[in-house]
Amino acid sequence: MAIRQITIDGDPVLRKKCRPVTEFNERLHVLIDDMWETMYKADGVGLAAPQVNVLRRIAVVDPEDGNKYELVNPVIVKSEGFQVGQEGCLSIPGFNCNVRRPYKISVEAQDRNGNRVKYDVEGFPAVVFCHEIDHLDGILFKDKRTEEEPTR
Ligand code: NI
Repeated sequence: MAIRQITIDGDPVLRKKCRPVTEFNERLHVLIDDMWETMYKADGVGLAAPQVNVLRRIAVVDPEDGNKYELVNPVIVKSEGFQVGQEGCLSIPGFNCNVRRPYKISVEAQDRNGNRVKYDVEGFPAVVFCHEIDHLDGILFKDKRTEEEPTR
């Protein structure tokens, strides 16, 4: 595994729409392993592929709920309720703001071998999923800044 350089806000790669993963090969596995190592080294709870300069629909999430999620080609298929809370991003060091997110979501994705998976998450894990999936469409959390009162 290797630590990759994290792209910083202002880099155009963070504003592009990522393409789906179509090949579930060793190259993908190395990338995902590197993303985990890079995320943990930076003390993050999630990381999306454009943050390591790869324009593919991949994210890793460890929201400290006891699970480590690998999301390939994730799609939010259902969302319920809302929550408002502070977020940050490894690509925007030193900046935090409040963002409104769904409270609960269902996400369909694939794992690193291309198997279909579905996750139902709520609370903080749902926030991290939404934040990372936004990265795959070139959206940063600061775009969604709200002045609403935090609910968490
Ligand atoms: Ni981020």
